[in-house]
Amino acid sequence: MDKFIVEGGNRLVGSVKISGAKNASLAMMPTCLLAPGVFHLENTPNNRDVWTFSRLLGSLGVHAELNGNTLFMDSSTITSFEAPYEHVKKMRASIYVLGPLLARYGHAKVSLPGGCNFGPRPVDLHLKGLEKLGAEITVEGGYIVAQTKRLKGAHFHFDISSVGATVNVLMAATLAEGHTTLTNAALEPEVTALARMLQKMGAKIEGIGTTTLEIDGVDVLKPVTEVTTPDRIEAATYLIAAAATKGDVTLHNVNPYHIAAIIQKLEEAGAELDVTGETIRITMSDDPNPVDVTAAPYPSYPTDAQAQWAAFMLHAKGAATIKDTIYPTRFGYVPELQRLGARIETTENSCTVHGGRRLTGATVMSSDLRASASLVIAALMAEGTSEILRVYHIDRGYESIEQRLQALGANIVRSRTEEF
Ligand code: UD1
Repeated sequence: MDKFIVEGGNRLVGSVKISGAKNASLAMMPTCLLAPGVFHLENTPNNRDVWTFSRLLGSLGVHAELNGNTLFMDSSTITSFEAPYEHVKKMRASIYVLGPLLARYGHAKVSLPGGCNFGPRPVDLHLKGLEKLGAEITVEGGYIVAQTKRLKGAHFHFDISSVGATVNVLMAATLAEGHTTLTNAALEPEVTALARMLQKMGAKIEGIGTTTLEIDGVDVLKPVTEVTTPDRIEAATYLIAAAATKGDVTLHNVNPYHIAAIIQKLEEAGAELDVTGETIRITMSDDPNPVDVTAAPYPSYPTDAQAQWAAFMLHAKGAATIKDTIYPTRFGYVPELQRLGARIETTENSCTVHGGRRLTGATVMSSDLRASASLVIAALMAEGTSEILRVYHIDRGYESIEQRLQALGANIVRSRTEEF
């Protein structure tokens, strides 16, 4: 297993190009199951989740190959309709093959995803939505088994705003017979990116970018070339890391509208941000003001950037409270930050970070993707050497993170470790 060795104390200075969005790629890749032929996804991030999804598509018969940041997918021949546990356990987004396989081929078998490190993550809304479109679904031996003659349009209301359920049901509705209305659909830019790609493939969708999606089912869709939207969480992570090290960093290939909530919080904390087109320059010269954040569905502050904010607040001039309304127990990173000297109190659905503490290097363990990003930021802020174990978590969603941080002046190296 790989680990990072980080010598803290360096300011991040320079520029970094932000990758395509991992979560948009994962939503766009399964569209190849809706139409036979050759797809190209440009600006695809070269990270572990994309490799895992490519392997899953490969097991279904799709030839998927990543060349630089262009993903080639040939879905001319589909040979299997089953997403086995070995893939789904690595990545919950594997469930995204369910809607397209069902809509196009009338049957699919997908392993139920298990729990995850930051609390329960059910898939009931994915299943209810597909059932509303006429699918018959049973759970057998840990697998979701779904079938239908042909899906039929219907009105489905998402009780909770869910990115994954919206992605799955939207893809299925594009090939259903008749009209589908989806209300309280997720607004996240990754859902919008998927909807635009589906439109390009020939799907009839109205209301893109709103919580109500109107879909008129079509009989066939066609393969396309599409460019993936920039990764707003990667952008947020580099902005916060820059501010946390009192740096001066310019980000390229960003959509500033997608991170408006984060830009505002950074400004409240005392950072200066200069936004020009798809470029953002951030500078920070002092310890931050304490700023609370509450993670909630888009366009609010994202849950995927709250752990990084907690690290940033470790040097704040006071206490800041971080609350997560999407995953109320997503604070598994707190004990690891405490190993670096942090003083953080947790309640049922929040944590309060007491700033102004001296952080000193220590060995810490990554527990999930965004928790690892938080540990990297805290290690960059700490005095001395930290070791961050199990960085395979961070490799799921950040392309070449240590090389990009090195280019910004960070002292971080990857090394292999014997860990059992
Ligand atoms: C996606 C993102 C993840 C992000 C999350 C919230 C991907 C691949 N992952 O995950 O990075 O943290 O959105 O922005 O895009 N829920 C249910 N039933 C369901 C589905 C969800 O109750 O069937 C609940 C969840 O427990 C959670 C909330 O709905 O409380 C939102 O989850 P959801 O948007 O579905 O998250 P994911 O799509 O899994």
